[in-house]
Amino acid sequence: MFQSRDHRSVGFITEAKDPYEIYDLNSKILPEKYPIEYITELMINFPNLQLVYVTYTQSEYKTVGYILGYVDTDNNVCLSALGILKEFRSQGIGRKLINQFLENVRDHVKVRNIDSQSVYLHVKIDNTNAIKLYKSIGFKIIELIPNYYSDNSDAYLMKYRLT
Ligand SMILES: CC(C)(COP(=O)(O)OP(=O)(O)OC[C@H]1O[C@@H](n2cnc3c(N)ncnc32)[C@H](O)[C@@H]1OP(=O)(O)O)[C@@H](O)C(=O)NCCC(=O)NCCS
Repeated sequence: MFQSRDHRSVGFITEAKDPYEIYDLNSKILPEKYPIEYITELMINFPNLQLVYVTYTQSEYKTVGYILGYVDTDNNVCLSALGILKEFRSQGIGRKLINQFLENVRDHVKVRNIDSQSVYLHVKIDNTNAIKLYKSIGFKIIELIPNYYSDNSDAYLMKYRLT
């Protein structure tokens, strides 16, 4: 468990254990639905890359955000999904989840001796808040991919260099 506390949010980041919890959160936050089998597979194969943010208020724990990722067949790391419940946004939780994810990625590739060069993700080109967050962490826009999403909207491919 990775303790985390600042003036804006009180909570902690931990590995996700319940695929249905992620499924429900994902359905509330992102238009793209991930099948429960996909989420379960990620948890089995890359447990340390599936993280949730849990808040603690008024004696209650609540999972309010998640990040999912995996190492692909070319040994690059995909940040597959990131989402924070609306009422918990702009409190620094997204940034904390990405930073912990990147730390876990470094551990993962080191322990398994994987030659990973970068972490990549796709983001809708009009998702300015997410793009701003990714850029501030060090991700760079690599290319625009037309019609990437099921609603035919375009994506940016963004990459973060690990080395
Ligand atoms: C994108 C998202 C994950 C950001 O999470 P968050 O917890 O709100 O982000 P943080 O509070 O950690 O903010 C980090 C940075 O993001 C940017 N940002 C986040 N929300 C913003 C807003 N409303 N306006 C402007 N910038 C914003 C800022 O650069 C901010 O840094 P700062 O606080 O130093 O200014 C969240 O808005 C979300 O879940 N959106 C819907 C799902 C989504 O779009 N996921 C990404 C798909 S690729």
